[in-house]
Amino acid sequence: MEKVKENPDIIVAPGYGFSRIFDDVYFQPHDPVAESSFVFLRHNFLPQRMAICPHFVVGELGFGSGLNALITVDLWLRVAPAGSTLMYFAVEKYPLTLSQLIVMGQPWKALFPEAYNMLISPHYENACSRAAKVPLRDNKTLIFQIFTEDAAQALTHWPAKADAWFLDGFAPAKNPEMWHPSVLSRIGDNTLLGGTFATFTAASGVRQGLRDAGFHVFRTKGYGPKKHMSWGYRFSNPGKF
Ligand SMILES: C[S@@+](CC[C@H](N)C(=O)[O-])C[C@H]1O[C@@H](n2cnc3c(N)ncnc32)[C@H](O)[C@@H]1O
Repeated sequence: MEKVKENPDIIVAPGYGFSRIFDDVYFQPHDPVAESSFVFLRHNFLPQRMAICPHFVVGELGFGSGLNALITVDLWLRVAPAGSTLMYFAVEKYPLTLSQLIVMGQPWKALFPEAYNMLISPHYENACSRAAKVPLRDNKTLIFQIFTEDAAQALTHWPAKADAWFLDGFAPAKNPEMWHPSVLSRIGDNTLLGGTFATFTAASGVRQGLRDAGFHVFRTKGYGPKKHMSWGYRFSNPGKF
């Protein structure tokens, strides 16, 4: 396994992360847990869906600090039926080291101890090079992998169509490549019919790209003072029927 190297352009502190590469924060410093839960869990309807689906696949663009993974695994541990499997596949072009994750995740350790011990651990380093399979209580299994490459590349060999996507790749104005129509089209290809996405952005180009990728797209009120965010579900794959 090739060890992740620390990138000097990524600044970390407890509950905080900033990328000099993109001139953007990893998440809003004010209550990121509430904001990420609102955008990604609630608008993918995960509490309801995970409670009845024994096999669930999540895809994420931009693993970053692992906060979204933490809140997802925490929810799944609480609500999914015994014997369930969660597959969590993420892409991350600039992976953080485990030490950086430990610094950033300091405030979350006490909030989600079980998920934290599982993710912010050597499993993270393993998951950066191959699928990590983690057996858990109640006969549950987490399968977890992070593709440490460009999203456009990773999506050409994505391992499983997702039930739900977290599109979390910095602001489109600061990172247009992550939101390129070709990337969004591959998100459509890698989503089950009826599968959903949620994202903090409501940029019109992103919403159009997702419509072209076969999603019904909804713009809705964003978290707190944020005006808008978007979510949607896949109903077709244009050009493939
Ligand atoms: C807003 S942060 C993600 C925050 C993360 N979801 C979390 O829970 O901490 C965006 C992430 O996307 C990654 N990223 C940006 N462009 C990328 C690309 N083209 N391919 C893959 N990852 C990319 C960045 O390195 C960064 O970690």
